[in-house]
Amino acid sequence: MKRVAVLTSGGDSPGMNAAIRAVAHTCMFNDVECVGVMRGYEGLIEGDYKVLDRAAVGGIIHRGGTILKTARSERFTTPEGRLTALEKMKEHGIEGLVVIGGDGSFHGAKALHDLGFPVIGVPGTIDNDITGTDETIGFDTAVNTALEAIMRLRDTASSHDRLFIVEVMGRNAGFLALETAVASGAEYAVVPELPLSIGNLCKLLRESYAEHKSHTLIILAEGVMSAHEMRDKLQDTGGYDARVTVLGYIQRGGHPTSFDVVLATRMGAFATESLLIGKSGMMVGNINHKLVLSPLERAWSEQKSLSPELLSLVNKMN
Ligand code: F6P
Repeated sequence: MKRVAVLTSGGDSPGMNAAIRAVAHTCMFNDVECVGVMRGYEGLIEGDYKVLDRAAVGGIIHRGGTILKTARSERFTTPEGRLTALEKMKEHGIEGLVVIGGDGSFHGAKALHDLGFPVIGVPGTIDNDITGTDETIGFDTAVNTALEAIMRLRDTASSHDRLFIVEVMGRNAGFLALETAVASGAEYAVVPELPLSIGNLCKLLRESYAEHKSHTLIILAEGVMSAHEMRDKLQDTGGYDARVTVLGYIQRGGHPTSFDVVLATRMGAFATESLLIGKSGMMVGNINHKLVLSPLERAWSEQKSLSPELLSLVNKMN
């Protein structure tokens, strides 16, 4: 291969730029030209490329977001869109592609692989909801961003003896909520993977209030319900004055943690090297601190489970 492309797709996540940089440098190390595709699969259809030389990827390793931008592409869900993208890549001598994104992005990557085009996926999303890897790029940073905000909330909650319901991202998964709950010492984590009894939660809150627990934190995954809905449902909490905070998109920004920078660099390099030795249709995963390849379809064919240990810890610590 003499020319490889890289794109970012789906929700952006801190560390994507470090992964882009690693792909570009690994290409250069192997005398391969690297081109970035702007705005994900939309840019692939339009042939919107940008050469990624040392200057282009200089100074981006610690920047949040993605210099290639990202977009969700309806056109790429159609056969015509996919064939147009393939034609554009072939016109420009692009022989392989690294896709950095979530499971939705990997569907597109699989489609290109099935059309005979070499593709490797790198899991980049703050949700950490991708089977085949212990961590996705951006998850650690998002947890730390949420933690920083929640520790500030704890100050005011303890000053006013209040119950705070904090809504975190995660689309339909509870990984962000659960990890953030353990890290922040929250009393409860409410996640879509487990059934929720409002009655039982109110009973536990009444008991906490009766034991003069000055304040309580509930970390709520957005996929269960909104924090405002939960506040309206938690009527009989024994006396807590409830307040709501929705962390929202701040969890997607900020400079990546060292963990995410190192993870992204490792994954970007490994994906590129795998492409260059002829691998395709696979995603990079970090399993027990070792980089491995598994089929792209694993990202959606197998449900990734929450850690039973963390679930147990939240219950023990409240
Ligand atoms: O998948 C990452 C994510 O941030 C989810 O946690 C969230 O629900 C979703 O993206 C929001 O999507 P959008 O950025 O398109 O509003």
